[in-house]
Amino acid sequence: MKISIKQLVDDTKEKLSFPQIAMRILRLFENDDLSAYHLAKVVSLDPVLAAYILKIANSAYYNFPGKVKTLSDAITIIGFEEIKKIVIMISAKNAFKVSDEYDRLLWEHSLAVAVASSVINAKVNITEDGIAYIAGLLHDIGKIVFKKNETVGYKELLKEAIENDVDMHLLEEKQFGYNHADVGGYLLEEWNFDQEIIDAVAFHHLNFTIKKASDFLKKAALVNVSDFIVNRFLGIGRAKIEDFGVVFELPASKTIDFNISDIASLIDEIYQKFEILKTTMEEEAA
Ligand SMILES: [Fe+2]
Ligand SMILES: [Fe+2]
Repeated sequence: MKISIKQLVDDTKEKLSFPQIAMRILRLFENDDLSAYHLAKVVSLDPVLAAYILKIANSAYYNFPGKVKTLSDAITIIGFEEIKKIVIMISAKNAFKVSDEYDRLLWEHSLAVAVASSVINAKVNITEDGIAYIAGLLHDIGKIVFKKNETVGYKELLKEAIENDVDMHLLEEKQFGYNHADVGGYLLEEWNFDQEIIDAVAFHHLNFTIKKASDFLKKAALVNVSDFIVNRFLGIGRAKIEDFGVVFELPASKTIDFNISDIASLIDEIYQKFEILKTTMEEEAA
């Protein structure tokens, strides 16, 4: 069945709406004079969100000595940018609401790609950490849109991709004429996300063949490389491969000059951080 992106997103949007409170908090960050006090006040309107922020601030992910007791402390200690990442992460968990094994895997994949984008960005210096992390976290949100729309036959497509170990975006393009990156970009635009995040998500499956890439292409390439590493070296999403050298052959790796001697310890760092976040997010907040 042919369906336009607009129709697909319009039909599905309500099933995965971003919590209003998260939108309100994200808008606060647009204000240059935002104070920790004001941010804490708005965050505390949502007790579950507040509890998660405290929990994550106290987790091994940050490794702070001593206990972070109040929301204001958490905001002062870990900083606004980190709070923004946590708010989006918790909201995304809502949007990814796990109802089957595939949803669970996609959520874990997304969390791992968020961590990978952040860790790799720290090495190649493409963008701000928050942009890298959020783009990684939301890069495959278009798959959720496809899957939640039960009329388009996405589950059959997923089965085909798993059975033959083929790229999902290629199957989508064949069937719909566009892929989940296009859909994700479209949705994030409707949700008024930063343009940089929209670009990185919307273009993460490009071919990256041009040599002189602009900044926005580099962000998309960062997500592409992170996606590959999570899929193929951590095995979260696709079948694992053992030869780490192949990552340097990816066109996207060349776009971001990704060249690191100790890839094994990079993969280890991504895995450790991912595990901490995954476990923290699995437990109840309060
Ligand atoms: Fe993707
Ligand atoms: Fe992905």
